[in-house]
Amino acid sequence: MSILSLKSVSKSFGALKVTDDVTFDVPEGQALGIIGPNGAGKSTLFNLITGNLMADAGRIEFDGGDVTRVPAMKRVAAGVGRSFQIPQPFEKLTVFENLLVAATHGRAASEA
Ligand SMILES: Nc1ncnc2c1ncn2[C@@H]1O[C@H](COP(=O)(O)OP(=O)(O)OP(=O)(O)O)[C@@H](O)[C@H]1O
Ligand SMILES: [Mg+2]
Repeated sequence: MSILSLKSVSKSFGALKVTDDVTFDVPEGQALGIIGPNGAGKSTLFNLITGNLMADAGRIEFDGGDVTRVPAMKRVAAGVGRSFQIPQPFEKLTVFENLLVAATHGRAASEA
């Protein structure tokens, strides 16, 4: 079964169609790399998958459920995780505490 599935996903910024009818499946346990030159739309694609941006058209499924219109915080609870191109640590927390947040938020491991 696919853990992640995109079907004809599109996203435009004004007249610029950055994500144009993108379709792919990622089976559970598979690592998929996305490559492309600067401005190709990689970060936009990740933002669509995480819910930081909403798709204009198409469908995104995660773990068997339709998350196309689900807000980012609920996708996190469903198990979607990400890192950022520019690191976004909580500056008032220690390194250990930052890692603890990442490891325990959503449905991942317990504090123990
Ligand atoms: N919020 C936005 N508003 C308008 N245009 C945007 C927005 N976000 C991205 N773009 C434009 O969409 C295109 C794709 O940008 P994106 O950041 O997804 O590319 P990228 O592949 O991640 O590039 P890089 O390799 O530089 O990280 C670029 O032309 C960018 O200027
Ligand atoms: Mg990028």
